[in-house]
Amino acid sequence: FVFQEPEAQFVVGRVEDEIAFALENLGLPRAEMQARVAHALDLLDLRPLRSRRVEDLSGGEQQRLAIAAALVLRPRLLVLDEPTSQLAPDSAAEVLAVLQRLNRDLGLTILLAEHRLKRVLPLADYLIVLDADGGLRWQGPAAQGMEHLPWLPPVAELGRRLGWSPLPRSLPEARRFVGAAAAQRESVPTSRAETHAEGAPVLLEVQELSAGYAGKEVLHEVSLQVWRGGVTALMGRNGSGKSTLLKALMGLIPLSGGEVRLQGTAIGAWDTPQRARKMAYLPQNPNALLFAETVLEELAVTRRNHGLPVDEGLLLALLRRLGLEEQAGAYPRDLSVGQRQRAALGAVTAVRPQVLLLDEPTRGLDAGARQALIRLLGGWKQAGMGILLVTHDAELCAALADHVVVLEAGRVQAADRPRRAFGACPEFAPQIFRLLPPCLSVDEAVRALQ
Ligand SMILES: Nc1ncnc2c1ncn2[C@@H]1O[C@H](COP(=O)(O)OP(=O)(O)O)[C@@H](O)[C@H]1O
Ligand SMILES: [Mg+2]
Repeated sequence: FVFQEPEAQFVVGRVEDEIAFALENLGLPRAEMQARVAHALDLLDLRPLRSRRVEDLSGGEQQRLAIAAALVLRPRLLVLDEPTSQLAPDSAAEVLAVLQRLNRDLGLTILLAEHRLKRVLPLADYLIVLDADGGLRWQGPAAQGMEHLPWLPPVAELGRRLGWSPLPRSLPEARRFVGAAAAQRESVPTSRAETHAEGAPVLLEVQELSAGYAGKEVLHEVSLQVWRGGVTALMGRNGSGKSTLLKALMGLIPLSGGEVRLQGTAIGAWDTPQRARKMAYLPQNPNALLFAETVLEELAVTRRNHGLPVDEGLLLALLRRLGLEEQAGAYPRDLSVGQRQRAALGAVTAVRPQVLLLDEPTRGLDAGARQALIRLLGGWKQAGMGILLVTHDAELCAALADHVVVLEAGRVQAADRPRRAFGACPEFAPQIFRLLPPCLSVDEAVRALQ
């Protein structure tokens, strides 16, 4: 069994020891143990990492290690709980490629729970679809199950809208339907103007920022802007420095170079609370922000901490906007993942900031919670908030971003309007863009193909 958060199941420290640890209770002879560990290292391509410390591994490497530690027991069935939900696209693809190989080459049976279906669906032989309350909605061969899914990956959704049969499960399958039609089209009507944010005033200006951790520079002269009423998306592989940038902006780690300006004012001397008053920050794990007895109180505490008046009416209005009106009196830890995240968003935005920094906000959300978040952020954007959105979620980025910045090893690799940035860095592009550039959404693709 591989848990949703692999780091939660590691105990020892070094990669090799972690795999051996799983065997310790079996009382195997030493030589047999070594042989099994060596085999598991090879199966998951972990041999070069065998002596590394677990906490220094990337997310994808940790996930592969968790799978190795499960496989060393020689199971017939491998069960995984959302193995790619924490991962950047490249690491997710790496983990799924390994699973595919174990399945095809070793005949290992795999049971995988997932709600982000884009990458997983093409690999599945059999589908089990559960209702929100855990009841069985449908089960059967994957090729026949598409109609029964509560939501579809973008290319399948496009197929449903255009009446393709059978619905494509993957990009190559969708390409067969699109082929000729796409080649013949002359121009694609696009629905969203891409220019408006850049014409607006700059709220947050990052100039040649360098920062890192004790003796290790992670970010090198990064520049970017966030405009009023604009969403700047920050993408990049695991470890490229996205979270580090947000921490540097909040004053949680010092800069070694460059400058940050909020509405024209250099904020180098501001402490974190002062920054948080103007620039809300939702870290990768928002649970850490929730500690009050009720949802409403989470919001009130923020205002009190900043020495601001607490107007219950205004806070209730914010909760309504967050879709948490009915949960105002609930204990935050009892909420669903999506509700908890929106409660945390409420807590950081109760000061009415002009800028919002979000670190992978769709991680672990199901489709419903994700849609609610997209609507919420879209509304705030319309109201003039400037949003810096760190995400691996290409569809989220396509739905909201006016500007995309791609980080690679702590440097800006591309910074452009979405269509051009996706063209330059296709590994971060949404599925629809890969099928039918420059379309970003199912709606655009439907119009282009009709
Ligand atoms: N607290 C820390 N101490 C030392 N190094 C860190 C720390 N946090 C992150 N790093 C390193 O900084 C680099 C960038 O990490 P991070 O900003 O978390 O990347 P991303 O968010 O893009 O996945 C990685 O090499 C990571 O190992
Ligand atoms: Mg990160």
